[in-house]
Amino acid sequence: MEKVTIKNFLKKKGKDKIVMLTAYDYSITKILGRTQLDGILVGDSLGMAVLGYNSTLPVNMKDIIHHLKAVVNAKINQLIVADMPFLSYEYSSKAAIKNAGILVKHGADAIKLEGGKEISGKISKIVKAGIPVMGHIGLTPQRFLEIGGYKIVKDEAKLLEDAKALESAGVFSIVIENVYSEIAQKITREVNVPTICIGAGPFCDGQILVINDLLGLGEFTPYFAKKYLDLNNEILSAVNSFIDDVRNSKFPSKEYYRSLDN
Ligand code: KIV
Ligand code: NA
Repeated sequence: MEKVTIKNFLKKKGKDKIVMLTAYDYSITKILGRTQLDGILVGDSLGMAVLGYNSTLPVNMKDIIHHLKAVVNAKINQLIVADMPFLSYEYSSKAAIKNAGILVKHGADAIKLEGGKEISGKISKIVKAGIPVMGHIGLTPQRFLEIGGYKIVKDEAKLLEDAKALESAGVFSIVIENVYSEIAQKITREVNVPTICIGAGPFCDGQILVINDLLGLGEFTPYFAKKYLDLNNEILSAVNSFIDDVRNSKFPSKEYYRSLDN
């Protein structure tokens, strides 16, 4: 597969489905690099998935950079999008451009940030600096405290207005999270950039999931995430087998060690 570009994303609108997953480390990204995925998101979901926080709010630029480096080191052909963490773009356009630029300097092909009309001015400035931006509307987990939980978003008029504001600001795609499918479908029809959905139904230009949810790794799986594997139990059973083998002197068996006489 050739390196995926922003143009490839735009061309898929209304034609081929865009498929993305999050990734946070080298070994998993290496595997994802062998697939036909279009893009990888180094999401601030790493706060929960990898660092054990109960929201994405504590995630900072250092955390994203740390994991972005691991993903970039896998040298994949998928488009690498890095999430801008909470408070890395809210203060000012200057801070937003600077932090977006830092992620690009570490190997991101594009950045993603949360919000609609209220941040479209900042998005437009980042885009003008030459940095591709992916939008993110609907449930925006960085506004967890304001929203008071992870609820489905219902305000169709506001979502449409936000999507259009993002499109005008120059985003190359929009993530729509936890929104009724009919609303996501309407947004998909009304904007010219691809919509990439999570918990927003099938009528979008693409889908994204958190890799830990797909693999069945972690304590909590949202209702909209399909578990394609049950890694929690696979890992539990592998580790229990190792413990049993050691305690019953079955490991290491002959093939796993060297003796002076063979
Ligand atoms: O951080 C993340 O994983 C995300 C996706 C859920 C879109 O923003
Ligand atoms: Na995110």
